[in-house]
Amino acid sequence: MIQFLNLKKMNQPFEVAFQEKMKQFLEGGWYILGSEVKQFETDFAAYCGAKYCIGVGNGLDALVLIFKAYIQLGKLQKGDEVIVPANTYIASILAVLQADLIPVLVEPRLETFNINPEEIEAKITSKTKAILPVHLYGQLCEMKTLNAIAKKHNLLVIEDAAQAHGARFSVQCLIDSNQSLLLDTDCHAELVSVSHHPTAYSFYPGKNLGALGDAGAITTNDDELAQVLYSIRNYGSKVKYENEIIGENSRLDELQAAFLNIKLKQLDSENESRRKIAKRYLSEIKNDKIVLPNWDFSQNHVFHLFVIRTSNRMDLQKYLKENGIETMIHYPIPPHKQKALSDWNHLSFPITDKIHNEVLSIPLNSSLEDDEIQHIITVLNRF
Ligand SMILES: Cc1ncc(COP(=O)(O)O)c(C=O)c1O
Repeated sequence: MIQFLNLKKMNQPFEVAFQEKMKQFLEGGWYILGSEVKQFETDFAAYCGAKYCIGVGNGLDALVLIFKAYIQLGKLQKGDEVIVPANTYIASILAVLQADLIPVLVEPRLETFNINPEEIEAKITSKTKAILPVHLYGQLCEMKTLNAIAKKHNLLVIEDAAQAHGARFSVQCLIDSNQSLLLDTDCHAELVSVSHHPTAYSFYPGKNLGALGDAGAITTNDDELAQVLYSIRNYGSKVKYENEIIGENSRLDELQAAFLNIKLKQLDSENESRRKIAKRYLSEIKNDKIVLPNWDFSQNHVFHLFVIRTSNRMDLQKYLKENGIETMIHYPIPPHKQKALSDWNHLSFPITDKIHNEVLSIPLNSSLEDDEIQHIITVLNRF
C-alpha cells in the first residue's frame, strides 16, 4: 500500500541529527525558551523575509495570539468581524472565535480553493476590521487584490500560512505601478525588511515543515505587535514573575525547536521535490473524470496537498485503495456544516459544498519513490 503520508520515512533522513541533538539537549538541561527556540526564531524570520518570528505552541495558537495581540493594542475590539474563507480548515475559524471576534464566511474560487476576492466586498460591514486569507493546500491567495481591498476599507490582514511554508510570490507581483508594496507574504530574500503581515504557521508533523509534535510560529515586521506577542505567549511576561498583560502559555517547545532547526535547512528542497511530483501529476494524469488543481508553475505553491476533484469521489477512493493507494479528504465536512458551529448549519455556500463533496487528496511528498509516483499516475489514468 502506498501510504498517504509516511512520517517515519519522511523523518528518517534526519534521525541521526535528531539523536545527536537529543543528546545535547539532555546534557544541556535547558527545557523552555532556550537557545534552540532563539535560533529557530532568528532563522525562520530570515527564511520568511520577516523582521520577527515568535515561536508558539501550535498553528491555532499562532492565529489566536495575533488576534489577541491586536485587541491588546486597541487595533481590534471584541465583536469585530473578520473575513475568512468558508472552506478553510476549521482552525482558522476557531481562532477568530477564541479571540471573541466574529468570523464572516466568504466563498472560495473553485479553481484555486482560495478565498474569492470578488465575493469579499459584499460581506464588508461597518464592523469588518480584518481579512484572514488562508493559503490553502500550499497555494498563495491572490494577495495583490486582497491587499487592495484591505487598503480601500482600512482592514487589517492576517495570513494563515499553516499549509504554505516557503511559498513565494514573484518579485514583480509585489510592486504596483506606483512602486509601492502590495504583497508581503513570505518574501524573497531581497525583500527582507519590507512590511509584512502577521502570518501564522503550524509545524504539525504532517506539514511541509513538520515537528515531531505540536509547534507553531508567527512572523511579522511590526515592532509593537511583536513585543506584545513575545509577552502574550509567555503569561504576559517578559521578565520572570512580572506580568504586564493577560497572557497565555503557548511557547514553542525547546525540543521541537531543536528538531525544526535541523529540518528548516531542507525545507526548500522538500518543497522543490513536491513541485517536481506535482509537475508530473499535472502533465501525466489524463482522465476526463478527474479535475486537476490549477498552478502557474511558479513558486507560489508548495503542494502541501495535491487535491483533485471528481464527481464520483467515493468510487475513486475505493478504486485507489483496491489498487494499493491511500488517499485522504481535505475536508469531508465544511465548517458551516459542523455540529460545533450549529448556528451556521442553515447557511448556504454552494462552492464550498461542491469542494467538500468532490475533493480527494492523492499522496504527494518527498518520500515517494519514482515507481510509486508512476503507479499512482497509471492507476488514475485507468479509472
Ligand atoms: C489552514 C490551517 N490553519 C491553522 C491550522 C492549525 O494548526 P495546528 O494544528 O498546528 O494548531 C491548521 C492545521 O492543520 C491549518 O491547516
